[in-house]
Amino acid sequence: MKIIIDTPEKLYKLAAENYVSLLSEKPRAVLGFATGSSPVGIYDELSALYREGKISFEEAVTFNLDEYVGLDTDDSQSYRYFMFKNLFDRIDIPASSVNFPSYSDTDPDRTAQYDKNIANAGGIDLQLLGIGVNGHIGFNEPGTAFASVTHKVKLTDSTRKANSRFFAGIDDVPEYAVSMGIKTVMNAKKIILIACGAIKAEAIAKAVKGEVTPDMPASVLQLHPDVTLYLDRDAASLL
Ligand code: GLP
Repeated sequence: MKIIIDTPEKLYKLAAENYVSLLSEKPRAVLGFATGSSPVGIYDELSALYREGKISFEEAVTFNLDEYVGLDTDDSQSYRYFMFKNLFDRIDIPASSVNFPSYSDTDPDRTAQYDKNIANAGGIDLQLLGIGVNGHIGFNEPGTAFASVTHKVKLTDSTRKANSRFFAGIDDVPEYAVSMGIKTVMNAKKIILIACGAIKAEAIAKAVKGEVTPDMPASVLQLHPDVTLYLDRDAASLL
C-alpha cells in the first residue's frame, strides 16, 4: 500500500494524474467513481484538465460505487445527480457510458448483474474510493463479507447521520442503498482512496495498520496489490 501525504489541493492534482496517464495509454479505460465530499476536488481537477485539452473521457466507461434506493434518478440527492453535477456534465463522457448500481423489488437479479456488466466491460482499471468514519467503503458497512458483490444495503444509523448533512434532516436520508460489494471493489486493477480531515484519522489508521477484518471494511485494502492512499496531514495523523 502506497501512502501520499500532502495538502488537499496537492492531493487532488496528484490523484488526477492517475487519470491522465491511464486515459492516454488506454482511452477506453473502465473507471470506478465515488461520491461524498472527498472526491469533489479531484472532479474539479479532472474538469479543469478536460477544459485545458489534457484529458478526454470520450471513450471511457464508468461504474459508480453506490446509489441510494428509493430516490428518483433526477432527485438532487441521488448519487447520479451528484456525479453529473460534479463531473459528467463538465467533461466529454457520453451519458450512455455511465453506469450506476440499482435495486428493484420486481427485478431482483438486476443488482448482481452490475458485477457482470463491469466484467463484460473488461473490469475496472481504476477505482476511486472515499472512506466513511466507520471505515465503510462504498456503502459496505462494518460486517460486510469480503466475498460480497453488488448488493442492497441497510444503512447504519451512523452513516445516515453522517450523510444527513446533504439532506433536510436525517428522516429524509434513505434507509437503503445499493453498493458494489467488497469483492467488486477488490477486483479493480488499481485503487486510489482519498481522505482529508481529522474525522477520518481513526478509520485510516485502522484500515492501514489494523487487523484485516470485515468489522473495518477498508482494512481489506491491505490485501490488494495496487492501492494508493491520498491523505492530508490530519487524516494521516494517527499513522
Ligand atoms: C458515503 C459514500 C461513500 C463515501 C462516504 C464518505 O457514505 N457512500 O462512498 O466514501 O460517504 O463521504 P465523505 O467523503 O463526504 O466523507
